[in-house]
Amino acid sequence: MDDSLITEIKKRRTFAIISHPDAGKTTLTEKLLLYGGAIHLAGSIKSRKTQRHAVSDWMEIEKQRGISVTSSVLQFDYGGCRINILDTPGHQDFSEDTYRTLMAVDSAVMVMDAAKGVEAQTKKLFRVCSERHIPIFTFINKLDRYGKAPIDLMDELENVLGIRSYPMNWPVGSDGRYRGIFDRQTRKVELFSADTTHGQKARESEKYDLDSDELKSLLDKETYDALIDDVTLLDEAGEKFDKARVDCGELTPMFFGSAMTNFGVQNFLEEYLRLAPPPAPRESSDGEIEPEDEKFSAFVFKIQANMNPAHRDRLAFIRIVSGKFERNMSVWHEQEGKLIKLAQPQQFLAQDRQIIDAAYPGDIVGLFDPGVFGIGDTLCDEKRKFRFADFPVFPPEKFARVGAHDTMKRKQFIKGIEQLTQEGAIQLFRQAGAGAESFVVGTVGTLQFEVLEYRLKNEYGVEIDMVMQPFEVARWLAYKDGREVTPSSLRGADRGMFVYDRNQNPVLLVNNEWALGWIMENNPDLELHNVPIDKMAV
Ligand code: G4P
Repeated sequence: MDDSLITEIKKRRTFAIISHPDAGKTTLTEKLLLYGGAIHLAGSIKSRKTQRHAVSDWMEIEKQRGISVTSSVLQFDYGGCRINILDTPGHQDFSEDTYRTLMAVDSAVMVMDAAKGVEAQTKKLFRVCSERHIPIFTFINKLDRYGKAPIDLMDELENVLGIRSYPMNWPVGSDGRYRGIFDRQTRKVELFSADTTHGQKARESEKYDLDSDELKSLLDKETYDALIDDVTLLDEAGEKFDKARVDCGELTPMFFGSAMTNFGVQNFLEEYLRLAPPPAPRESSDGEIEPEDEKFSAFVFKIQANMNPAHRDRLAFIRIVSGKFERNMSVWHEQEGKLIKLAQPQQFLAQDRQIIDAAYPGDIVGLFDPGVFGIGDTLCDEKRKFRFADFPVFPPEKFARVGAHDTMKRKQFIKGIEQLTQEGAIQLFRQAGAGAESFVVGTVGTLQFEVLEYRLKNEYGVEIDMVMQPFEVARWLAYKDGREVTPSSLRGADRGMFVYDRNQNPVLLVNNEWALGWIMENNPDLELHNVPIDKMAV
């Protein structure tokens, strides 16, 4: 086995930060970059409102709305590790995109606002991670101000998310008057000096033994006694640390801190890197693919067009699963059934793109995509062909009929919606019996329609007419005996809209589950699926 490959794999930590909007994901990401030396002054990326989200947002629309729509990838080194952070969009409409990003990570960091605890979006994202059984680390943020009691937050994790927690550190002080953290591994208390740089620079701190006189002289008696009581309670009655349970996502290591004031960030980063897993194997049609396998393999988890107006292009993001990636290498593209040359691969730090020569399992690489890649595609060695397990598809819940406002722009319109479909931003249907260019677009949330309209206008120069449809449920149709389902063979087809997906599979759009019940009752030999039928085969 190639020793240098193994060394590189062991160094890798690939994760996503998940949180409810405003819990502090962007700030924490920025502070991790600050401690990693990837940026020198925090706030150069984001601090003032006008600069918000500048790291992760490529699309103009995001800046306008102040939300993160697309995902970015950041890479930096710290303490001998190579860290890849995948940014996940915080808006609930983008759950599908987020879901795909979470397929490409080996662990997740869940950021929570100490005052708010578990919020709606935290719950959803947590569920996706827990279904994959990946390790989840919890960072309780905003400890510089009043929040819920640490013990109550532990209870909330257990009662709301169903996960037990193991505090790796514990705040010293209470109610926003926190002085430092107690590290339960080293048994030392780290006290932070006052923050004089508004969080722009790493914060100064000193460490003390828990029972040292020096520490007692620095804390008031009440704070010190409360700390001793808490520590004793945790040690005696708390959960025992069990790495095997952390590894399968049953126990979450919990950290306290404040991303804004750099309180506890370094302690979190170091402990996280010690405990987080290196790249994991992936399931494929040829069994598990180990990262140490010298034959290269990767899968596409995201496609994004025109990320930067300066480069009008389309990128496919791949996650490397095994072997070494080298610039200009030729790989087998399983879905297209041909060899392709990977020229001009890119890695990312904020908006600076670098051309890279080599990358390893766990790394994310952006490839120029002339329009051949699809979400979930496999790239592998020509001598060992296989397919990674397919990505789950979300059934669309919102539908609109769309067309080019100006019929002269038909060509650009079709090119635009087809590309957006390949990126996975929308699902495209054609109504049975209607003209070949009568498109119905399905999405999982309404924001995608705005993105669709905006991108068609800005990237393809096409104004569209869009009419929202009242349907909320899509079902792929098949007869048990394999006969073809057609609008005339289906009893009650006119109770909804009979459409075809991109692969000519028949689909029925209806208003609600009740309408679906009627269809099922009146078509006893019909099978209804909530994902495309071709997706079910793998
Ligand atoms: P997000 O990516 O999860 O949506 O959150 P983001 O980091 O943008 O943080 C949301 C708000 O919370 C920001 O304030 C940010 O400064 C603040 N924040 C983040 N970490 C901490 C912390 O540790 N303590 C306190 N007190 N606040 C924190 P904002 O006013 O919305 O934006 P800005 O003007 O600071 O940029």
